Amino acid sequence: MKKIRVNLRKYSYDIQIERGILEQAGERMRQISGAEKAAVITDDTVNALYGDRLEESMKEAGFAVRRISFPAGETSKTLSVLDRVYGELADFGMTRSDLAVTLGGGVPGDLGGFAAATYLRGIPLVQIPTSFLAQIDSSVGGKVAVDLPMGKNLVGSFYQPAGVLIDPDLISSLPVRYLHDGMAEAVKYGCIKSIRLFELLERIQDREEMHRKLEQIIYECCMIKARIVERDEYDLGERMQLNFGHTLGHAAEAFFHYETYTHGEGVAVGMSMVTEMSEKQGLTKPGTAARLETLLKKFELPIHTEAPLEDLLALAEHDKKKRGDDLTLIILSCIGEARPMRMHFADFQKFMKGEMHEGGH
Ligand code: GLY
Repeated sequence: MKKIRVNLRKYSYDIQIERGILEQAGERMRQISGAEKAAVITDDTVNALYGDRLEESMKEAGFAVRRISFPAGETSKTLSVLDRVYGELADFGMTRSDLAVTLGGGVPGDLGGFAAATYLRGIPLVQIPTSFLAQIDSSVGGKVAVDLPMGKNLVGSFYQPAGVLIDPDLISSLPVRYLHDGMAEAVKYGCIKSIRLFELLERIQDREEMHRKLEQIIYECCMIKARIVERDEYDLGERMQLNFGHTLGHAAEAFFHYETYTHGEGVAVGMSMVTEMSEKQGLTKPGTAARLETLLKKFELPIHTEAPLEDLLALAEHDKKKRGDDLTLIILSCIGEARPMRMHFADFQKFMKGEMHEGGH
């Protein structure tokens, strides 16, 4: 078992990474919580795959269990589904000493996490992420949210879990596109913080090796994210580096109505586009974009998009990460080292069109 401590004073917790940990999840939760009741918040697809196994293990550890499940997919990350979840938590008689458990990818994690953050002003939460992306990103660091019709993650909170249990076996059987989806975020971690991780990903020869290395990759990514979150829990500085490639990536996802690109595919496009530009403008070590793109292509990730730049920039203008008319663009100095460039949105547009020849302010 690999364990990563996330040190956040009173809200510190462990990320436990272990093949087969799902079968022992009840026992692990018992070490974290003395709760009588535990509500498992999940989606119908994940519930059908793992719900019974998890419930059995939790019952063996003495929890009374209620499963709360909704249809899979981003369209469930709404206030009305959240409302139903609150209703079920109340109906189950959950108190502040009971436990919420999220089981699934980003949607159950974000929505269930937000329910835990707000029900009774906050009840303890354990996250069990079941997608590669959730295992290396969304389940770590305490960002929880639901969507509004006007945009994604517009209602949310920072709410640290009491524990995260990651079972790499759960993702081994995923269709390869979903592994590659997560791999884009793993490449991102390498780009912004760790040439060692980047090189580890570069050395992967084939799918079989990728599968064998999943546990190590998850560990390296969670370690990087944990250290960043410790230094900047509320996303005011260093944590923004995790947005490398995301401004244009989100725009590319949105341009195709979230039907063409997975999140990771959008991020791959965004990372490539920004790095090509920052390199052209002398801000990034020569050769970086080509090296990044070679790695992304190995994981069958796109590096360009057919969406016109003008449309992407228009969509990016609505990105919630903008503050006023300013935006923090993350660029690479070289592989393993990122830096923020705070700039007016108008300058970002010029930057992406190759019309700006010096750094922002
Ligand atoms: N997913 C980016 C963050 O947690 O800050």
